[in-house]
Amino acid sequence: MHVALWRVMCDMKMIPFKPNIQSIRPYEPGKPIKELQREYGIRNVTKLASNENPLGRPSTDVLRAMRKAIREVHLYPDGSCYYLLERLAGEIDIPKDQIIFGNGSNEIIELVARGFLSEGDEVISSEMSFLVYPILTQVCGGRFKAVPMTKDYRYDLDGILAQITERTKLVFIVNPNNPTGTYLTAREMDAFLAKVPPRVIVCFDEAYVDFVEAADFPRSLSYIREGRPNVIVLRTFSKAYGLAGLRVGYAVTSREMTEYLHKVRQPFNVNLVAQAAAVAAIEDKFYLWKTKRLVKTGRKYFYKKFKQLGLEYLPSQANFVLVNVKRSGSEIFQELLRSGMIVRAMGAYKLPDWIRVTVGRRSENAQFIRLLKACLTEKT
Ligand SMILES: Cc1ncc(COP(=O)(O)O)c(C=O)c1O
Repeated sequence: MHVALWRVMCDMKMIPFKPNIQSIRPYEPGKPIKELQREYGIRNVTKLASNENPLGRPSTDVLRAMRKAIREVHLYPDGSCYYLLERLAGEIDIPKDQIIFGNGSNEIIELVARGFLSEGDEVISSEMSFLVYPILTQVCGGRFKAVPMTKDYRYDLDGILAQITERTKLVFIVNPNNPTGTYLTAREMDAFLAKVPPRVIVCFDEAYVDFVEAADFPRSLSYIREGRPNVIVLRTFSKAYGLAGLRVGYAVTSREMTEYLHKVRQPFNVNLVAQAAAVAAIEDKFYLWKTKRLVKTGRKYFYKKFKQLGLEYLPSQANFVLVNVKRSGSEIFQELLRSGMIVRAMGAYKLPDWIRVTVGRRSENAQFIRLLKACLTEKT
């Protein structure tokens, strides 16, 4: 063996890689459009894979605010997100010292994990929820407990309660859930919170809350207004507000919790352009309205078409629909990819026959149905 290579191998053994981190299976994001264009040489690519905004462009007011902000990027951003905080606090009627922003809500999940988990601590969520939770738990040396869903693909709250032990620090509940689109009602959530020991922190991840139509959906911010110290509500500008590429999310929680999480974050965690864009996004009510309307009609369109195709689907409160394609979901995913359509296979969630499709523009939804139909009829 070459001496230099032998040396490198010896050195690698001496690097103190942590086993809990080395054994992590990295999060697989939806395939980027540019990657598919490169790999398959396809020009026209449609991405209905990452639950991004269906309008296919940001708000023009947001673009204007970004153009203005960009002239100042030689400066550090405002570490306190002053204007954004002011605007959002007014919008959701929550005191400013009970809101904290992150580089996407993903960063807040990380702040919570780093802030509360020590070696051997437990985190509980469902087996079909955001894959970032188990990853961050493992990064912090914790133990992730994935509770099976109920038969109707909803969180099993009693199952979660039964798993709580002395070592449990965090419970994550996505509502409405990704990837199922199902939701928990206000009554279910109230009953659950009444039974959770107050030392266990409950994070309600509401990345998709803006798309909810159900009248019995919980008003989670009222848990914060009531002064429950162990509740954190996570929200994002990535979906309905169309800022996924800029990375802005936030948490609403108690004063004490907000102060604590600020100690964990980087001083300039939300960039200057993103802050200006998020303020403009809050102001542009018409963009939000159009987004919601498109999602509502898109979901209905998918339901109708899936019914016609004889496919089982889960009615969704989010901007995506989970459908059982009665074949290998990853095969269908690959076939759709070759036609320039990116969706998500659900193997990672132990749903091998299902795919998740994000609601897009009308023409994109119709294109997806056409291609899916072609995939399904080819094999029969
Ligand atoms: C349930 C859930 N939580 C959080 C996020 C992350 O959102 P953000 O873009 O704000 O980091 C996503 C994104 O897909 C999500 O599905």
